[in-house]
Amino acid sequence: MYQHKDLLGLRGVSAEEITDILDVADTMKEILRSGNKKTPHLQGKSIVTLFYENSTRTRMSFELASKYMSAASANIAAGASSVKKGETLMDTGRTLDRMGTDIIIIRHPVSGAPHMLAKCVRSAVINAGDGMNEHPTQALLDMLTMRQRFGSLKGLRVAVIGDVMHSRVARSNIIGLCTMGASVTLCAPPTLMPVGIDKMGCTIAETTKKCVSGADVVMGLRIQRERQQAGLFPSVAEYCDNWEITPELMQKANSGAILMHPGPINRGVEVSSDAADSDRSVIDAQVTNGVAVRMALLYMLTRRELTPFKSEGGNEI
Ligand code: CP
Repeated sequence: MYQHKDLLGLRGVSAEEITDILDVADTMKEILRSGNKKTPHLQGKSIVTLFYENSTRTRMSFELASKYMSAASANIAAGASSVKKGETLMDTGRTLDRMGTDIIIIRHPVSGAPHMLAKCVRSAVINAGDGMNEHPTQALLDMLTMRQRFGSLKGLRVAVIGDVMHSRVARSNIIGLCTMGASVTLCAPPTLMPVGIDKMGCTIAETTKKCVSGADVVMGLRIQRERQQAGLFPSVAEYCDNWEITPELMQKANSGAILMHPGPINRGVEVSSDAADSDRSVIDAQVTNGVAVRMALLYMLTRRELTPFKSEGGNEI
């Protein structure tokens, strides 16, 4: 069973722990499929989402997961909070903690921000994406989607194509998939491929055709158009010519290969519309699995006993 206080990344999370989370998520998916999505799993618990970056899927799935399981849930949009008055992340975290929050879910543009927060709060902290570091819940929902399709992650061959450099989704997937015995091959424009990333246990392919050859899973990553302005690839047209995932490229993968994308998609840039909407695409299943995985994590992280608050003199408060 997952025994840690927080979920800050998949580094250090064992294969057994990942398997447990995915098993609980499968059960939660049954609840989502049932006619009655209201459960008492989180009755008496309070969950806060604290997002310093935009989100549709991650934030909404955490909020729905909290509500489905009867938690008291609230969202803080950093732009409309006391952060705007100069409050530090640590003081914001402590404030939420003292209000009795059980779990704080944070997305932050700075790598490591959730780790700093976790050190100074009693609440469990879930990393919903930190800078270019990790997005562990995305990788867990991706692995759940793969496991549901193929039965096991061991021996799966996963091709990842796109902006690897800036992708926290890629990093968490590489860590999680390697832990589970899958192999990962990356392909990106040279300027979007971090030097030394193969030390994480993945391999690098020069072309998308080589990358998807023999793959069971083809995963596209979002190309951020703002990177194009930074000159990291010559033009969107050239990117599409070399790295766009199309039905023709999917034909080079294994016959039962699936197409995944964490979203949001730039249609016609990293994935063509006809590929994204094809029978091979499991992008919609990823979204549903996102709610199931987050339900599982909220449930598992509220199983532990909270330690009482202590004053500086050591007294309980
Ligand atoms: N995949 C993902 O993190 O999407 P959002 O940015 O919409 O949360």
